[in-house]
Amino acid sequence: MQIKKVGVIGCGLMGHGIAQVAAEGGHDVVVVEADARALDAGLARIDKSLKKLAQKQVEKGKLDADQAEKAAAATRLRIAGSLERRSVASCDLVIEAIVEDLDAKRALFRELGSLTRREAILASNTSSFPISEMGEASGRPEQMVGLHFFNPVQLMRLVEVVRAPKTSDEAFAAARAFGEACGKTPIACKDTPGFVVNRLLVPFMVQALAMLERGDASAEDIDTGMKLGCGHPMGPIELTDYVGLDTTLAILRGWVERYPDEPTFAVPAILEEKVRQKKLGRKSGEGFYKWEGDKRL
Ligand code: CAA
Ligand code: NAD
Repeated sequence: MQIKKVGVIGCGLMGHGIAQVAAEGGHDVVVVEADARALDAGLARIDKSLKKLAQKQVEKGKLDADQAEKAAAATRLRIAGSLERRSVASCDLVIEAIVEDLDAKRALFRELGSLTRREAILASNTSSFPISEMGEASGRPEQMVGLHFFNPVQLMRLVEVVRAPKTSDEAFAAARAFGEACGKTPIACKDTPGFVVNRLLVPFMVQALAMLERGDASAEDIDTGMKLGCGHPMGPIELTDYVGLDTTLAILRGWVERYPDEPTFAVPAILEEKVRQKKLGRKSGEGFYKWEGDKRL
């Protein structure tokens, strides 16, 4: 099956990036948000990112200013915003990128199962929840895959393509080809908690937060340690701010509830406290660090 038209539900941190890379890959995209303010903010982020990437292409001598501007405008023209979930009815692929809340995701997939065409592929960008449960909710588990992009979607080169036990070979192959068309390198994953990357990355973030909680080292020193000692582009505390403290907490709470005996899944009290204070990281302007827009202060 060839994917031409793509629906993205949610235009937040991840959804806006997924909509953008899908359009850059030549697909027509409709991105759906729950309210007008969130939709405007998401589309504005796409505009800002396209401008930045165009500037980069000019700086690198790949395109002249006029060509770069035209390419960015052509990508943007392929993206339509909508507040109506019905707008995805004619899509070949619909990717869910709403909050990390399994009940909300199941409710959405129930609706998508009846809204979309029978042959449409349904995908979730979930960080941690079972793809199979969303597939069952949709009523079309053979059409359901995980398409797990990484933040920031425009710059990170990986996409995890998740095959649940009932996913058909055709749906998996089409999802993988879509990831490649978006300029990403796909890896195949089973439907296990955190797939490949988050199963390794999130426990590492938990250990860094536990270290901070114990007072073993400051946030800056933990981050500097991992950047300069291990060559990571970002330290684990800064990365938690970057992912969003609410999202990180939702991932961990879900895992601890399902797998109480797994020692690498734990909810650091320091994380719960920050979220209680509505300090959600980069998206709210403060988490473990203070942020102004995309820049750490
Ligand atoms: N669109 C376009 N351009 C962007 C951009 C975007 N969304 N985000 C950043 N850029 C630009 C920056 O403006 C910058 O441009 P200039 O050089 O002109 O200033 C350029 O890209 C590089 O950015 P930085 O200056 O911030 O430099 P950097 O080298 O630190 O790169 C980074 C930034 C790629 C984010 C890097 O720090 C990095 O790789 N960090 C780790 C990210 C990571 O681990 N992500 C995974 C998170 S976990 C996840 O996603 C899974 C999950 O389920 C939770
Ligand atoms: P976010 O809070 O930035 O964005 C979620 C968006 O979904 C919001 O704008 C919200 O208004 C919208 N939304 C909620 N319910 C909706 C509905 N029913 N219909 C339409 N829009 C709706 O969250 P995010 O960080 O973009 O995360 C989205 C998903 O991607 C989550 O499942 C998360 O676990 C996953 N993810 C996050 C990261 C990350 O680094 N933040 C990385 C990979 C995957």
